[in-house]
Amino acid sequence: MATPAEIAAMRRGLELATRGPASRNPQVGAVILSASGDVIAEGWHRGAGTPHAEVDALSHLPADAARGATAVVTLEPCNHTGRTGPCAEALVTAGVARVVYAIDDPGDREAGGARRLRSAGIDVEGGVLADEGHALLDPWLTVRRLGRPHVTVKWAQSLDGRAAAADGSSQWITGAQARHDVHRRRSEADAIVVGTGTLIADDPALTARNGDTLFARQPVPVVIGTRPLSRDAKIWQHPQEPLLFATYDLAAVLDELADRGLHRVFIEGGPTLASAFLAQGLVDRLLAYIAPTLIGGPRHAITDIGVASIGAQMRLTIDQLLPLGGDVLVVATPESAVH
Ligand SMILES: NC(=O)c1ccc[n+]([C@@H]2O[C@H](COP(=O)([O-])OP(=O)(O)OC[C@H]3O[C@@H](n4cnc5c(N)ncnc54)[C@H](OP(=O)(O)O)[C@@H]3O)[C@@H](O)[C@H]2O)c1
Repeated sequence: MATPAEIAAMRRGLELATRGPASRNPQVGAVILSASGDVIAEGWHRGAGTPHAEVDALSHLPADAARGATAVVTLEPCNHTGRTGPCAEALVTAGVARVVYAIDDPGDREAGGARRLRSAGIDVEGGVLADEGHALLDPWLTVRRLGRPHVTVKWAQSLDGRAAAADGSSQWITGAQARHDVHRRRSEADAIVVGTGTLIADDPALTARNGDTLFARQPVPVVIGTRPLSRDAKIWQHPQEPLLFATYDLAAVLDELADRGLHRVFIEGGPTLASAFLAQGLVDRLLAYIAPTLIGGPRHAITDIGVASIGAQMRLTIDQLLPLGGDVLVVATPESAVH
């Protein structure tokens, strides 16, 4: 059983982890506790090629200072030699007596750190604050498992499932509170993706805004499609340089985004692009903002997703129903999505 000091150290480790960049590498934090439970060192991972969190923490201590100590780490220490040495070995060499970690490393090469530590006689406990660890690393774990970023598709719709009026106008279907929710979630994403259809119809800024001001964290704007974009489009004023992909190969786009460390991808439409992502099974989470309004007509929020008969419908699990002013947000997960 983890002690209160170890649980507090894990909370601190999770905080430290967020100081590192999201990339192909995980965000990890570590805290070293003395035998009496005092914090003697902290560390975190600063990105590819730099020391892992536990090695960073140990580096702040004089030789032998970690002997008999407890290392609290948010991810199972790795057991392989990449650009840096195995963390399990560094902990064994440092002489720690106990290692506490939040979540198992699912990687083939890295996993086995806990086994290596145990074989060296170190007391190891995994799964401490595992839910919090998963919340932090879920996008990275998805990249690890699927080899692609975590994909959220968002749309706003009328109660009758329309994303725009017959003339293509769609601003605004939902109210201010729903739109604020979207902006907050944008600020948590790494990339915000639209098709050329939306860019041409709506000329969106694709920034994350808190009222009139920009959130400190801005997603990278991404546009997919072959049509050329106007040089006057608002996207060119975005604080992050836009990425343009003149392709319909969505898996290749996601691959490139993962390479760039863009792990949390927010697809904001329109219907053609959102449907293409769904049809190809590339969606982990759906956000449908439903407004109490009827629009009718041909512009459905989702179009062809390859469901020819009812037996092939794409079943979802509803994770959350959130009232937002007069609107409702439905957060759902495709049953086929890997958790
Ligand atoms: N309610 C909402 O939440 C919401 C959100 C966004 C947009 N909208 C509305 O939606 C309308 C625009 O709809 P839309 O469907 O044209 O927009 P869209 O999905 O943004 O863009 C469609 C375009 O995406 C490109 N594309 C990229 N990958 C593709 C693929 N794998 N398969 C097919 N096309 C791909 C194609 O561009 P190229 O032809 O250039 O190759 C295609 O024409 C507007 O009225 C807008 O206001 C509503």
